[in-house]
Amino acid sequence: MTARHKLYEGKAKILYTTDDPEILLTYFKDDATAFNAQKRGSIAGKGEINCAISSHLFQLLEAHHVSTHFVDRPTANEMHVRAVTILPLEVVVRNIAAGSLCQQTGLELGTVLEQPLVEFYYKNDALGDPLLTLDRLFLLDLATAAQVDQLRAKALQVNRVLSEFFQKCGITLVDFKLEFGLDREQQILLADEISPDTCRLWDQADPDPNRRVMDKDRFRRDLGDVESAYQQVLQRVLAQTAQS
Ligand code: TMP
Repeated sequence: MTARHKLYEGKAKILYTTDDPEILLTYFKDDATAFNAQKRGSIAGKGEINCAISSHLFQLLEAHHVSTHFVDRPTANEMHVRAVTILPLEVVVRNIAAGSLCQQTGLELGTVLEQPLVEFYYKNDALGDPLLTLDRLFLLDLATAAQVDQLRAKALQVNRVLSEFFQKCGITLVDFKLEFGLDREQQILLADEISPDTCRLWDQADPDPNRRVMDKDRFRRDLGDVESAYQQVLQRVLAQTAQS
């Protein structure tokens, strides 16, 4: 697969065609943005780290019967994926209150939720990815009722698998964002990436509310040591993957 044509460049990844129309190539960049790209920077080595972590997690999920777009990882920061039409939804699952949930509801940071909360956001940069109600989601025809049911079930299954896995890594999976796509048969596949850019991950060994942060909040909130936190997540994912 050599022929390449840039299809799309996003904030953290570039998507290329390959000579197989069913397969695309994702290049993971070191670029980092936050607050809808109002804050921009770079995290050294992030492309490789996020590509590696995502690849391992997609394979773990496949082993637990979650269909993903992952095909293989031909180089350190490239991933072959199945070509899908991305649904314009960001599906967020939360186990513990943090981020916008705290800002918008007044819930205290760190409140353990009785059951996981699944939320749908409109994937639309111009509008700032607003939180949707189900009625608005249907009003805008972003998915069918049957697709919403499937997305919720898949997101909760991903949460079960990843929470258990990260627990074994000594990491608490606080919340995360997923994106899904439709293949040619209209089957829903988990797409995009799963990495410290898209998850909140807290080190269980450190109760300090700033030191425990192992994810992009270190960049968003200028907590420092961003690279080493990402590197530490990768080390633990690799060690745990090797054990199981
Ligand atoms: P939030 O608390 O800011 O709504 O974020 C919830 C989760 O979604 C958190 O794990 C970070 C992730 N996320 C993204 O992956 N991309 C985004 O653009 C935003 C705002 C959050």
